[in-house]
Amino acid sequence: MAAAVAAPLVLAGCSNSGSGEPELKVSGAFMPQPVSDMAAGFLTVENTGGAGDKLTSVTSELSDDVQIHETKDQKMRQVTSFDVPADGSLDLERGGNHIMFMALKERPKEGDTVSVELHFETSDPITVDVPVKAATYNPQH
Ligand code: CU
Repeated sequence: MAAAVAAPLVLAGCSNSGSGEPELKVSGAFMPQPVSDMAAGFLTVENTGGAGDKLTSVTSELSDDVQIHETKDQKMRQVTSFDVPADGSLDLERGGNHIMFMALKERPKEGDTVSVELHFETSDPITVDVPVKAATYNPQH
């Protein structure tokens, strides 16, 4: 039974019929220009739906090993998922939770754009074009 592994995906589309579904929107994405063969990524996932979701993984052409990290006591640690609460948001920002791109295949420069795909427990994946900013870039909230 090795054949037919890839079942066709049924796209549910954008259903606003009920309040029991997560409705996700990504904003404020950026990547500081990497200074080593690792890079970090930051963004906000807003959930205006009536159900929570989880960010479960991230993929990118830039790296075959993209992880999600939390920062506790100034140390970062890999986690398996981040909550995106109903009527709330997941904030990935400097000094806190972030996306970590290991073993970069190339080092993007300020002004470049990196395509990143976010995978969720419930929602369809979201592709984000992440702009590369100066290495010290830190937006004010
Ligand atoms: Cu990290």
